[in-house]
Order: sequence, then structure tokens, then C-alpha cells
Amino acid sequence: MSTPSRIITVANQKGGVGKTTTAINLATALAAIGERVLIVDIDPQGNASTGLGIDRQARMVSSYDVLTGAADVRGAAMETAVPGLAVIPSTLDLLGIEMEIADAPDRVLKLRRALREAPNGVPYSYVLIDCPPSLNLLTLNAMAAADSVLVPLQCEFFALEGLSQLLETVEQIRSTINQRLTIQGIVLTMFDRRNNLANQVVEDVRAHMGDTVYDTVIPRNVRVSEAPSYGKPAILYDLKCSGSQAYLQLASEVIRRERRLRAA
Ligand SMILES: Nc1ncnc2c1ncn2[C@@H]1O[C@H](COP(=O)(O)OP(=O)(O)OP(=O)(O)O)[C@@H](O)[C@H]1O
Ligand SMILES: [Mg+2]
Repeated sequence: MSTPSRIITVANQKGGVGKTTTAINLATALAAIGERVLIVDIDPQGNASTGLGIDRQARMVSSYDVLTGAADVRGAAMETAVPGLAVIPSTLDLLGIEMEIADAPDRVLKLRRALREAPNGVPYSYVLIDCPPSLNLLTLNAMAAADSVLVPLQCEFFALEGLSQLLETVEQIRSTINQRLTIQGIVLTMFDRRNNLANQVVEDVRAHMGDTVYDTVIPRNVRVSEAPSYGKPAILYDLKCSGSQAYLQLASEVIRRERRLRAA
């Protein structure tokens, strides 16, 4: 395969809402059904890389090298313990990249170039980009490269706060440098059904955002939070737990939407 079929950016400028957990488990679910999947970790925190069991010392080539053009996607991708799932890990070098590329006219297009203009293409059917909790140049690069944006929202009181700013940013990117960009969907995460407020949040978000919100809601589940410390996706760590099952269900919704988007 030459070009990636679909590039999905997982973004929300709020911290700790479930971006990385969603990227890892959605990618694992897609790989489990036979897709060739790549996660690009562009968060200097490197949680997606760690959560997939890639030690810091093992990160010889990283997303920093891809963004600066020192490495290509094929050369930077590392296989993970999940068959069919590779990751381009991140390193702390990324913290400085904003300043390093600030003056480059193509500073927002670095990742797009690497993913979409690789001379021999890239051998993945899905690429998921795990963003930092910011609408910075890294996140803009991810949006410029993507077909769609998947937004995790945590089921908490301020869930919708900041969403309009995120959607405006997507709109800006769409109207300027990436006309193909759409919202894949909004996924509600860390839902606790015993909490009345969480139920209210789900209702509010559905009322405001309608069909954009996936039917699947990811429950708060301790197994999901334990998995990264074993360097494994929850789906590998405990397939039967409610969190893993929800991520499998989310993957089938994502695929259904992809088919619709592709046909449109
Ligand atoms: N469904 C869940 N159940 C329980 N814990 C969860 C769940 N989803 C995520 N967590 C935990 O919540 C924390 C934040 O999740 P995660 O790292 O995925 O968020 P993030 O949006 O990527 O954070 P950041 O903005 O720092 O990158 C982590 O400790 C993670 O293990
Ligand atoms: Mg994260």
C-alpha cells in the first residue's frame, strides 16, 4: 500500500481526558481485525510510547526526527508487542521543536509531508496521531496531516469547556490548509454510571453535539488505568474488562463512520 488510507488525529487541548488511552486501544482494536496501524506519538510526555512498552532508551529515532526531516516514517516506526501495530515514539526533544521550526514557512506541514509525501508511501491502513494537551504547533501539524479528528471528552462538569475553541481550530485548518479535515467523532470517556453528574454530562454533550458523539461511552475502569504500567494496551492486558470491551465497540463505530466518509 502506498499512502495511508486514513489518518486520524486524537486531540483535545485539555489534559488527562483520555487521548492517549483512546489512541492506544483504538489502534489495538483496529490491528486486531487485521488493519496495519501506526501510532505517531507527538506528545513530549511520550505516554503512548511508554504505554506501548517502548522504553525511553530504545527510542533511537523519534517523531522529532520525522518532524525535522531527519528520518522518514518507515525508518522511525517501531513494532510493538501488538501484531500489526507500530509506533513512532516521542522524546523530550519535541519540547524544543516549536522554536526550532517557528520560522519555517512550512512549519505546520511537516507531519503532512512525512506521512503523505513519502516517496515510497507508508505501509499502514490507519495512522493515529496522539497529540499533547495543547493547541500548539504539534497539534496543528497533526490536524494538517489528518483526514479526521477524534475528540475524547471526559465525563466531568467542565467537559464542554474548550470544545468550541478546539472545533474553531479544526475549522481554521479546514478552511486554509486541509480541506479534507472532518470530525470523526466525540467519545465520552471515564464515565461512572453511579455518578449523577456524569449522566447529566452525557445528556448535555449529546444535546449540544448530536450525532457527532459516538454511541459508545468508555466507562471508568481500573484495569484501563493499570495497563500502561505494564506497557500494554488495556485490550491486551485484560480483554474482558468493561473498558476493553467499550474500546472494541468504539472501533467498530469508527470503522462504520470511515466507510461512510470514504463513500461520501
Ligand atoms: N476509561 C478509563 N478508566 C480509568 N482510567 C482511565 C480511563 N481512561 C484514561 N484513564 C486514566 O486517566 C489518565 C489520563 O488518561 P490519558 O493519559 O489517556 O489522557 P490524555 O488526554 O492523553 O492526557 P494528556 O493530556 O496528559 O496527554 C491516565 O492515568 C489513564 O490511565
Ligand atoms: Mg496523552
